[in-house]
Amino acid sequence: FTVDWDTGHYDTGGYEHYLLKEISEQPDTVGRTLRGRIDDRFHIAHLGGLNMDARESRSFRRVKIIGCGSAYYSGQIGAQLIEELARIPADAEPASEFRYRSPVVEADTLYIAISQSGETYDTLAAVQELKRKGGRVLGIVNTVGSAIARECDGGVYLHAGPEVSVASTKAFTSTSAAFALLALHLGRVRDLSPADGRRICDGLRRLPDQIKEMLTQEEHIRELAMRYAKDAAGMMFVGRVRGYPVAREGAQKLKEISYVHAEAYPASELKHGPLALIGPEMPTVAIVPDDELLDKNLTTLGEIRARSGRILMVGHRTTDQADDCIVVPKNETELDPILLTIPLQLFAYHAAVALGRDVDKPRNLAKSVTVE
Ligand code: G6P
Repeated sequence: FTVDWDTGHYDTGGYEHYLLKEISEQPDTVGRTLRGRIDDRFHIAHLGGLNMDARESRSFRRVKIIGCGSAYYSGQIGAQLIEELARIPADAEPASEFRYRSPVVEADTLYIAISQSGETYDTLAAVQELKRKGGRVLGIVNTVGSAIARECDGGVYLHAGPEVSVASTKAFTSTSAAFALLALHLGRVRDLSPADGRRICDGLRRLPDQIKEMLTQEEHIRELAMRYAKDAAGMMFVGRVRGYPVAREGAQKLKEISYVHAEAYPASELKHGPLALIGPEMPTVAIVPDDELLDKNLTTLGEIRARSGRILMVGHRTTDQADDCIVVPKNETELDPILLTIPLQLFAYHAAVALGRDVDKPRNLAKSVTVE
């Protein structure tokens, strides 16, 4: 079911792989997603492509997000942002699951389809099914004029530029940034205060420089990837709430390009099964932001330690409860997932390089899955 991808038109810009180039471009690509869309006067987002006035933006009672692979995980970050900032119940689901279960399509639900390529068959088919049943569908898409973009009623283009490497990186962070803009927009036509709107606008503006700052830790992360992933039987990724989709994306990146087995779990679910796997040969990457769940997450580290599990913590501080830590620049709590993702991309990349994998074209995978 693979599709050949011609990378001939683009070069690696002096990087060893497209993937590293695309990871390194993120200060710029996230900047492009945000450019011209933040309104400092009213602390709102300008998203002209939505084709919705304020009255319509206020009319939705639910948000349903669909996508495949990394697009689906960025949709989970999006659902969290929309619930937090706009207080509208929101959730994400794989596009294929959604379409095969004959979903109930409701007039007061806003549907959002996510796709880097705009050509993923399952996502396109889900959008078409929604439209057939009268659903209102927005697209968060990178490729201008793609099939999914054309099918949607409106949406947000990422402007992240072509993504060549099979594993998605810059599209993931740009999609998350686009969701922050959309959540800000939906929030500010509802109950989000001007002060909170300003806080999010300021936070978004800080993102590109903070991503740049994060990228300077590449050598440290490379060394950690050699120590943790290279000889591991498998790796566990855990997080809570905002950290959970980050953990899922981190596990996805690692397995797809390094072929190291990786599982992601909500930290609280560990004790309901996966804790049986924990031991010295199965290290854990724990996503532990400085948020209201910090203490609960630190308790989880203790549970892993008690089973002789090694822990690499990705968060905003160092702690003795982990064997190693990657400290990520702190932003507004709602925006933390975007920055927490960056070190996991570098971790997977360097694990794959160390294991001699075909980083940009992993076996059995395609950049764009245009068949069922
Ligand atoms: C493939 C790619 C993934 C991507 C997914 C969705 O599986 O290997 O990296 O996340 O498709 O692609 P899309 O273009 O719809 O975002």
